[in-house]
Amino acid sequence: MNIAVIGAQWGDEGKGKIVDLLTPHVSIVARYQGGHNAGHTVNVGDEQFILHLLPSGILHPGVRCVIGNGVVVDPDALFAEVDILARQGIEVGDRLLISDKAHVILPYHRELEVLAEARRGDRRIGTTSRGIGPSYEDKVGRRGIRIADLGDASADGPLAAAIRENVSARNRAIDGAETDWRTLHADVRATWSRLEQWVDDASLFLSAAIQAGQCVLFEGAQGTMLDIDHGTYPFVSSSSSTAGGICTGLGVGPRSIGAVLGIAKVYTTRVGEGPLPTELHGDMGDQLRESGREYGASTGRPRRCGWYDAVAVRYAVRISGLDALAVTKLDVLDGLDEIPLCTGYRHGEEILTEFPSNGATLAACEPVYEELPGWTSPTAGVRRYEDLPPEAQAYLQRIEEVTGVPIAIVSTGSDRADTILVAGGLIDRWQAERAMSTSAS
Ligand code: IMP
Repeated sequence: MNIAVIGAQWGDEGKGKIVDLLTPHVSIVARYQGGHNAGHTVNVGDEQFILHLLPSGILHPGVRCVIGNGVVVDPDALFAEVDILARQGIEVGDRLLISDKAHVILPYHRELEVLAEARRGDRRIGTTSRGIGPSYEDKVGRRGIRIADLGDASADGPLAAAIRENVSARNRAIDGAETDWRTLHADVRATWSRLEQWVDDASLFLSAAIQAGQCVLFEGAQGTMLDIDHGTYPFVSSSSSTAGGICTGLGVGPRSIGAVLGIAKVYTTRVGEGPLPTELHGDMGDQLRESGREYGASTGRPRRCGWYDAVAVRYAVRISGLDALAVTKLDVLDGLDEIPLCTGYRHGEEILTEFPSNGATLAACEPVYEELPGWTSPTAGVRRYEDLPPEAQAYLQRIEEVTGVPIAIVSTGSDRADTILVAGGLIDRWQAERAMSTSAS
């Protein structure tokens, strides 16, 4: 059974660690959206790996990794990441496949993004400045350049024409800019000689692998609330980070997604601008940020922190059809007397229990909390559910009740081993099924 791992909040939920945990049970890890705006941190022993564009599965020898057509690829960022991994002892080699239909990010995308954010002033999105949005804009505007287009060697073919037009548009947009498209064309052509080895039809590859009984993990980046359609628009990223994006972003049918696991922290964080109903200003927010080391893996920006928001995660359950949750960073709440948990929003006279579509409504919402008792003995590093303090177990049970799905994994630290697999839960059953099918084949 193929499985999807999806962020149920505003990104940075700890997907990298969970993907890393599940990868030994799969043959292929496939990313379907986003770009190198993502930052997946995986700790293995004393070694830390930070992945931006490559699927987290790349850390496991023998696992094939796919970058789907729904991803936007900055070739320079890709090469840099491959080289860093090589220095850390991980060889990408022929384990990577990049969809020939994935769009590229070129330097003018980054420049246009900086300009667009500056022009927005107070209304800026707080993007990662990686050129993600402008590349997706070009894709939808039907002037984008796809990876396979970089193989066009002719001096005046379609690639040259597209670069010439896009660079002229960018020169018109930026005062005083006079970039010579020929230089960029030559640079881009040079990247092809290294990129070519990985480029292929990802949909065809996945379809053959799935038919042959191989197991695929679909790795989401960002989170539900940053989805271009279902997130807190316009304060979103530019891709489909919810489960729907898997089909369009990889060219696989919906029936190939066997189960969907949502990842959520036991509190909430967000980087960038936009509404965050449970945001904490002041000491408590600082405490969560410091004990959770809540600084962006891609940009180093401090993350905004707040309490667990069940309205938001319940929404993620609905939008992506989440079967279960993996909850992360339980240990960050160690030592608190009381833990507020948001179960609804107060909007004027009304109490909302469903996530509002309208950004202005959301911005005007106040969280409605219930208080749960904290725990005194630490959960950090606990690896069996029954060893968690009773109050922590009660907190997790309440999360299940108010969110509407069972918890399958609890993460109690950054190390791979600091993880509780809930007995009889989705992942426990999935792993047992995987073990049986591997021994049968
Ligand atoms: P962009 O993806 O760079 O266009 O940024 C759009 C919004 O998504 C900004 O608020 C970013 O901070 C946020 N964002 C993008 N990628 C991530 C991520 O991997 N984790 C958390 N927030 C992200």
